[in-house]
Amino acid sequence: MADKELALAIVGTGGIAKQHRKNLEALGGNKIVAVCDVDEENLKEASAALGATAYTNFNEMFDKESGLDAVLLCTPPTVRKDVIAAACDKKLPVFCEKPPARTNEEAAEITDIVERSGNLVSVGFMYRYVPATDRIKELIAGEKLNLVQGTFLCNPALARKIPGWFFLREKSGGHIVDQAIHMIDLIRFIAGDITEVHTLGNNVICPKAEDFTTEDSSSTNLRFASGASGSHVHSWAYSKFVCEVVLTGAEYRLTLKLNDFVNGWIKDKQIDEKLAPPPAGDLRYWEMQVFLNAVRTGDASNIRSPYADAAKTLATVNAMNQSIDDGKPVELG
Ligand SMILES: NC(=O)c1ccc[n+]([C@@H]2O[C@H](COP(=O)([O-])OP(=O)(O)OC[C@H]3O[C@@H](n4cnc5c(N)ncnc54)[C@H](O)[C@@H]3O)[C@@H](O)[C@H]2O)c1
Repeated sequence: MADKELALAIVGTGGIAKQHRKNLEALGGNKIVAVCDVDEENLKEASAALGATAYTNFNEMFDKESGLDAVLLCTPPTVRKDVIAAACDKKLPVFCEKPPARTNEEAAEITDIVERSGNLVSVGFMYRYVPATDRIKELIAGEKLNLVQGTFLCNPALARKIPGWFFLREKSGGHIVDQAIHMIDLIRFIAGDITEVHTLGNNVICPKAEDFTTEDSSSTNLRFASGASGSHVHSWAYSKFVCEVVLTGAEYRLTLKLNDFVNGWIKDKQIDEKLAPPPAGDLRYWEMQVFLNAVRTGDASNIRSPYADAAKTLATVNAMNQSIDDGKPVELG
């Protein structure tokens, strides 16, 4: 398969699929031969732009497209299990957008399906693949990490340009399950498993309404299995953009500004490094490159977010929402 042009399918042809299409084009060596969506407009656009066969049912697509090498699952998180189960049945590697599912129960069922099939299912936690993440891990290797601070502030609740389902907590999980999940996953990747969360949410800027059932912002305290502690603040109601993680130990304080900047100090050294930008201008390029290489070689060892691990990140963010609802800390099993 080393030189073969990979034949790909996409299920869900909305906003994120368009982004992946650009990265796939920049990567080369692949062709999207089939697309599936239940939205007529998105399906028509993707099929026409790509010259791909259009389907409204993924089972029919998997049955008819016998030459597929992999599938990209880019639907809202309520559409996961049936597609992944059908792909596993066909031994078709899956790139699954985050969140890996909407509920922990569904994620557990999918984990079981994936593990029993031995199929490759890589979840799109893109920050794990960013060179700046490698760099900061390299800098603190062997050092004790005792404090972690994540911050992600942006404007979707003010701009209201993304599809309405994102603002419905029951569908998307709100800003925590949809987006804080990226930061919690990155924090887990660097600092290890989280054992307790205490989250306070608020709607000071955007009050809850029928079409807006998520908190617009939250602040979370984190406890790690290592004994370290930390926090994460997240907002969808901030007019500018901040996305960073600060790591502190006795002999260092380093900031990872996502996606390409590391600065601070460690021991007697000042650090001020700008890492190379992704070739196609989008940081999801790297996760897709690793996924395609794994499909080509059959070697999944470079996949940094296998399904079972992604399910742990999901459990952590679902616990954050539960903590808001219960008004108290939640321990993770
Ligand atoms: N990694 C990132 O940075 C990032 C960014 C944006 C979105 N996402 C994730 O990607 C996923 C999709 O988000 P989006 O912004 O593309 O949403 P979107 O609403 O723009 O697109 C989703 C598409 O899936 C289609 N769909 C729904 N049910 C379907 C089904 N049963 N079969 C086939 N198609 C179906 C919809 O019709 C729609 O066209 C979400 O899980 C989201 O969290 C990730």
